This record gives sequence, structure tokens and C-alpha cells, in this order.
Amino acid sequence: EKGGYDYFMLKEIAEQPKAVADTLLGRIGADGRLRLDEVRIPDAVLREADKIVIIACGTAFHAGLIAKYAIEHWTRIPCEVELASEFRYRDPILGQRTLVIAISQSGETMDTLMALRHAREQGAKVLAVCNTNGSTIPRESDAVLYTHAGPEVAVASTKAFLTQLVACYLLALYLGQVRGTKWGDEIHAVVRELARIADEVERVLETMEPVRALARSLAGKNTVLFLGRHVGYPVALEGALKLKELAYMHAEGFAAGELKHGPIALIEEDLPVVVVVPSPRGRSVLHDKIVSNIQEIRARGARTIVIAEEGDEAVAPYADHLIRIPATPTLLQPLVSTVPLQVFACELATARGNEVDQPRNLAKSVTVE
Ligand code: M6R
Repeated sequence: EKGGYDYFMLKEIAEQPKAVADTLLGRIGADGRLRLDEVRIPDAVLREADKIVIIACGTAFHAGLIAKYAIEHWTRIPCEVELASEFRYRDPILGQRTLVIAISQSGETMDTLMALRHAREQGAKVLAVCNTNGSTIPRESDAVLYTHAGPEVAVASTKAFLTQLVACYLLALYLGQVRGTKWGDEIHAVVRELARIADEVERVLETMEPVRALARSLAGKNTVLFLGRHVGYPVALEGALKLKELAYMHAEGFAAGELKHGPIALIEEDLPVVVVVPSPRGRSVLHDKIVSNIQEIRARGARTIVIAEEGDEAVAPYADHLIRIPATPTLLQPLVSTVPLQVFACELATARGNEVDQPRNLAKSVTVE
């Protein structure tokens, strides 16, 4: 059932191009317009929503953080992302015009379920983004957009994460379409790129051998830091979470701009620091800033592991290890930049002799609060 792979996680990483393609299937028309009629929330409700609140846990929370960038940029609807476990305890402000998006692979996560019940009690509409047909979270929501990742067995979430991103992009674009906001050239370019993105993920998977070798060489380390900006920041958080749960290593993700506000004090000789570099096209000012960050940490002895777009030559002189990813529109980059981090964590866990599919102390779905 592992299809020739040693671990479910490896199989599920390899299945990501298909999972992404299946989640897109039938949802973009030949005319480039989104077809999400299955989301049975009337367009009027979507048009009138004045706030979006995303609730989720763990990896699904990171998908939500990335979704916020896309939703606010493409729809101009204010969007908050909240850990489901914190949500109902802080008396959140919700109303009839709040659209709550609950993201969950399993559809059974108790923290997320309790948060969505609280949201509905306050009169908000809840839309679930879920991978498990007929599970509790979609059953208790007003509507559901299913991800089509297929069953995810490994505790560490991989293909579900990529499909959560795809579903959130589709939703953000659909909201933009319904509301008539920003439906311009940028959106068309993004829709076209989404149609090709499964192939790009496949290309990344084909180039992972150096990442595996690098991971093995770091098996004796205690700490790895991850830096990113913009949508690369949640990717850094996700890279760190994968490493914690699989390799049992101290791993932390930071927004690169925060370095000088504290974390840079952690940098010491030969400390591995993974940096997710934004595209030099698009928001190029962020790119230039992160290049300076890489120089700063390297000058203090960090071993820099740089994930950057093909053709981005500016980072090369400061990268001890350079991992290339295909060029994508800025907001879609997490679909390709996360993949090396999954492979990295999986290989490090293996090298450290850990149980990859069943990390200690963890369960696949967390059905207690
Ligand atoms: O089933 P869910 O998506 O609701 O699960 C949420 C988290 O428990 C889950 O993503 C967890 O963080 C993963 N083990 C991370 O790899």
C-alpha cells in the first residue's frame, strides 16, 4: 500500500502533483473563470462579506496564513487568521457578514470544530476546506470546498497542505470574480499559472537529491532556523514545524524582517539557516531586503541554505547551499518552495533513525481539545 516507497510520507510527497491537479480539476473553466458552484453559499452572501476569518491548526494554519495574503490582495476583504485553539477563548468579533473559513485535512480536529461551532453560534457563515468526505467539520459547516489530495496517512501533512493552498487560491479568486474586484491581467496570469503548477511541483520533485544529501549531512545538528518574507514567512514556519515533528530538532521560523528585533542573536558559527527567497520579479524590494538578511547572517557565521527561483543570480554569492525552484507568480510560490522543506525534514528524520510516518507523541487527527 506504500506503493514501493519506504514510508507513506515519501509516497504522499510524490503524489503532490496529482493531488494539486485533482484539486484544480473542473474548477477553472475554459474561459479562465472560476467554477465553484459546489460551494453552496449564495453569491449575495459572498458579495456582502465584510470580513474573513480563517481558523485552523498546525499545517492547516500555515495554509491559512498564506491564504490571507492572496485573499486580501485579490479581494480587498480584510482577513484574519487565527489558531483554532485560541479562537473562541478571546471573544472574537463575528457577525452575519463574517465569512469564516475552517481548514482541516481530517475534518475531525476538535479545536477547529469547537471554533467553528462558536462562529456559527455568533451568526457567521462557515465554509470548510477539507480533505475528508463527510467528516464532522464539513457536516457542521454551511458549505464545503473539498481538497482532492486522496487519503493522507503519514502524520506529517504534505499533499494535504499543497491542496489546501490550491483550494484557498481558488476561493480567493472566486471571491474576486463574484465581487468584481481586481479581475484584471494579474488574475488571468495567476489562473494560467495555476493550470501549469502541478508540472512545476513535479519538476521540483525531480531535483531533490542534493536536498536529501544536505539533510543527511546535518543529522548531527541540534537547531535549524528558517527565514522568509511575505508568503515565504508561513513557508518558513511550515518548514520548522515539519522538522520539529519529524526530526525532533529545535527548529524555528521567523519573518526575515524580524531578525534585527531579536533572533539574529541566535546566529552562531555553522548554524544552518534556511532562507526562502521571494521572487526578484514582482515585489522586488522584498527580494533585495532578504539578500541583505542573508549577507548579515552569513557574516555572523550562519551556514546559509537558500531556496530561490531559477535565474535569481543575486543570491548565489551568499548561498552555501542553493536550492532552485521554478519561477511562479509571487503568491503561488509556496506551492513550490514548501516541497524541498518537506523532503529535507523527511530525510533528516530518516537519518536520525526516527519513525517517519508515526512521530513520537503525535496522532494523525487530534480529536481532543
Ligand atoms: O486534520 P487537520 O488538518 O485539522 O490537522 C491539523 C494539524 O493537527 C496538522 O496539520 C498537524 O499540524 C500536522 N501533523 C502537521 O504536519
